[in-house]
Amino acid sequence: MQNQWTHIPILAPEIADLLLQNPDGVYVDGTLGLGGHTKFFLQRLSPKARIFGFDRDEEALSMARQRVSDERLTAVHASYTQAAKTLQKEGINGVDGALFDLGLSSYQLDNPLRGFSLLRDGPLDMRFDLSAELTAEKIVNEWGLADLERIFTDYGEDRNAHHIAMAIMAKRREEKIDTTFKLKNIVETVVRGRGKIHPATQIFQALRIAVNDELGAVENVISSLPHVIKNGGRAAVLTFHSLEDRLVKKYFKDLAAGGEWKLVNKHVIVPSYQEVRANSRSRSAKLRVIERI
Ligand SMILES: C[S@@+](CC[C@H](N)C(=O)[O-])C[C@H]1O[C@@H](n2cnc3c(N)ncnc32)[C@H](O)[C@@H]1O
Repeated sequence: MQNQWTHIPILAPEIADLLLQNPDGVYVDGTLGLGGHTKFFLQRLSPKARIFGFDRDEEALSMARQRVSDERLTAVHASYTQAAKTLQKEGINGVDGALFDLGLSSYQLDNPLRGFSLLRDGPLDMRFDLSAELTAEKIVNEWGLADLERIFTDYGEDRNAHHIAMAIMAKRREEKIDTTFKLKNIVETVVRGRGKIHPATQIFQALRIAVNDELGAVENVISSLPHVIKNGGRAAVLTFHSLEDRLVKKYFKDLAAGGEWKLVNKHVIVPSYQEVRANSRSRSAKLRVIERI
């Protein structure tokens, strides 16, 4: 059953070229997912190399272990924000490179039981880590108007945040909003779709970010990079929406201004036309890489 899921690693050769400077090195894959990038990297690394792969999603981790099936990989069920601590426990003071491929995998998006997709009906869940307490259902049914409006505005950049939050408050007095389609239908009553983008897309994005504190995790990991990357090592971050990219851009700029880091690519790297044609989910990807001098 598990093997029906796929996820095509994005910009894999480009990231490998920029990140894997030491074939015998130790690396972190902060977002192991189904292990696509790690598998690609291991083909380029020597038998001495090691990769510590982190993911908050236990299901993804067990698929990655099976798919990568390589003893150079240590797969850890933890947030990438725990990377520095985990490495220290292993007696490793800094790694040669780290990748953070943010967001969710195709497996999570395509699996209706995870509740991320507005194209598939399922429980309103959206947790990366199924042992975490906060779900999208809790937020939608229990948070107050101001908080709903705030996350729809801040994390969804949705101009209709207020009206959608009001519609949710009204509907939940009648019944529990516990499925993706119930939420999608509420948004459709407030906003008419335009073009290819469904009007609930930004609301789903906002909920996912809030459920998983995604922006908090990104800020946290970038500020911990000095404890993760050794001198001469690099960190690469792949983002999929402007909120994340703005954050990474700002933090990388601040690090570079401090004098101990330098930007490897001044301009953001994006997938080629051919890659986007072959894998439409790569279309919004942006890669930034930084080096500790
Ligand atoms: C885009 S996918 C990674 C795909 C992977 N690079 C591959 O090629 O298969 C992102 C993964 O990051 C995980 N994730 C999200 N936030 C995380 C965090 N704070 N710590 C660790 N993993 C996280 C998600 O569960 C998801 O599996």
